[in-house]
Amino acid sequence: MKELFPALLNNKDSVYLDSAASSIKPKAVIDAINDYYLNYSCNIDRGVYKESISATNKCNESREMVAKYINAKKEEIVFTRGASNSLNMVAMMISETLNDGDEVITSELEHHSSFLPWLNVSKHKNIVLKFVELTSDAKITVENFKKVLTNKTKVVALTHVSNVLGYKTPIEEIIKLSHEVGAIVSIDGAQAIPHMKIDVKALDVDFYSFSLHKMCGPTGLGVLYGKKELLEKYNPVELGGEMNDEVSIDSVTYKAIPHKFETGTMPIASIFAVKPCIELLNSIGIDNIEKRSVYLRNLALKEMMKMDDIIVYNASEESSIIAFNIRGVHSHDAVSSLAEDNICIRAGHHCAEPLHKFLKLSSTLRASFYFYNDEEDVRKFIDGLNKTIEFFKEVGYIG
Ligand code: ALA
Repeated sequence: MKELFPALLNNKDSVYLDSAASSIKPKAVIDAINDYYLNYSCNIDRGVYKESISATNKCNESREMVAKYINAKKEEIVFTRGASNSLNMVAMMISETLNDGDEVITSELEHHSSFLPWLNVSKHKNIVLKFVELTSDAKITVENFKKVLTNKTKVVALTHVSNVLGYKTPIEEIIKLSHEVGAIVSIDGAQAIPHMKIDVKALDVDFYSFSLHKMCGPTGLGVLYGKKELLEKYNPVELGGEMNDEVSIDSVTYKAIPHKFETGTMPIASIFAVKPCIELLNSIGIDNIEKRSVYLRNLALKEMMKMDDIIVYNASEESSIIAFNIRGVHSHDAVSSLAEDNICIRAGHHCAEPLHKFLKLSSTLRASFYFYNDEEDVRKFIDGLNKTIEFFKEVGYIG
């Protein structure tokens, strides 16, 4: 499998366990990006010359592929700069329609990109931000969700899969309950879509945001899925070239969806790379991808559970992530020591500071596995951990 990923071959000494931050890109994706720059390099949607028409057609095909992948209509797929951009757009477009006293439900489990746009809205509008009470191990449950849902709830903004703990939010039930009170549900799917089948119609979700770079796709490209009638209802949050229909000095009309939400020149090279990205995921199968990631994670976890100086925070969860610390060692010190052995994992609060405050932790280490990892990566990771622990014992951090 590694032979499909040039960056893995070009960094053979490294053990890449940071796929929750960004996945490694396959050669087919890189080739598609190069194809754009080598053979097109022009703009789309504007030119009538053959290169522009052909590039426009390829981008339309990419949109259709994304739509098919998540079971949406093609006009419900808005290309954005990434999940953060998508989530900010949702908050901005809905906030225009909120009134005094309206309630928005979110949680302390959120990535900052899911939570901060709503914190910002609450600073500018007289709305009430409500938090689902997390269980002691920081999970969102339907039972606790029901406690904060009221007839005043207008928006529910939650993560599908936690980027720190890998926990899955029971969004199916939450979406049903939210719709019963007329609330709109916006889901941060950045950590879910690389690992599970997403069917937006079966979920009946209103908005679903994700980034391509976490699913073997290019950086700088995200998707905002929105139900057709909602995308038609809300105003664009960014204005400029190509999103408008008719402009005069005192008025503007907008293009039809999704174009009214896509301002200026889009990341065309990245849009070219959608096709090989989705083809790769389809050829392996998302269930196999997840099975392999969880298998490798569990191999590592089994070894880590035998190590007295390791504290794991999400051992019970079936996921591709291990959130942990080394007893007595700050995560930044630990990650630097591991980096000396070319073990690539992430340390810090992972853009989820409220969650770390809830867990009463200043930071954690996070190892995240994907299908291109192998048993050798697991062995090197465990060896690296043992070496790091030995080092911190020698310097007296671990008693
Ligand atoms: N959101 C990415 C992460 O969790 C960057 O690391």
